[in-house]
Amino acid sequence: MTTPLIVGNWKMNTSLDDAITLAKATATASDAAGERVEVGICPPYPWLVPVADAIRGTSLRIGAQDCAATANGAHTGDVSATMLAESCAFTLVGHSERRTHHGETDAVVHTKLRRALDAGLGVILCVGETKSQHASGQATDVVRSQLTNALARLDPAHADRITVAYEPVWAIGTGDAATEQDAANMARAIRDDLDALLPGRAAGIRILYGGSANAENAAAFLAADGVDGLLVGGASLAADAFAAMIRAAAERQ
Ligand code: PGA
Repeated sequence: MTTPLIVGNWKMNTSLDDAITLAKATATASDAAGERVEVGICPPYPWLVPVADAIRGTSLRIGAQDCAATANGAHTGDVSATMLAESCAFTLVGHSERRTHHGETDAVVHTKLRRALDAGLGVILCVGETKSQHASGQATDVVRSQLTNALARLDPAHADRITVAYEPVWAIGTGDAATEQDAANMARAIRDDLDALLPGRAAGIRILYGGSANAENAAAFLAADGVDGLLVGGASLAADAFAAMIRAAAERQ
């Protein structure tokens, strides 16, 4: 069975002190789960190096929340994938808050994904439909087009460093999670798309659910067909709740 993956996306939260405390507590939970679960956290950029230092030697993996679409150079305020690769194992790309607040198109997401893979990072590609797209029955088409555009002309040899996170936009930070059935249906559709986009290479790509996942609903999502883990925002900022989600993944049948 695929090893479940639980990732905490801290977004623009925590002080440095809080970040170190939370990372250490999460590392303890990750080590306690052993090889039954892989656990990652995505702290804000300035905390990546001190957090990486604080949890060195543990099983917890560090990721970035985003990377630049360009290589190093005159890009004020940006952080390149090659810089991130010095302290991170992976990065998110295409999170809906980047798409919405920063106008990131599928083309930008594609470029970021390529930059991250070329720098040796793992990538969690976030996809998901808006509330109105969901209501009008377009969810599967929207997700398919996001996947197709992001993964176009990808070197198939890089497939083993990709994870896909299905995050319906309407479920993020709202407390209104999708149903397990929604998550399972979309995971099946994503799996079919991946098989078509990366023939023979997609089997190892994990599919996560994200959007108001918490300690109460984690076990149900992890039991949903085709869901290999969770991308967690708000609940990953509470050490106890996130540890409970890691345990739920470790106990998954
Ligand atoms: P949430 O965020 O768990 O707070 O809904 C998920 C995400 O944005 O990745």
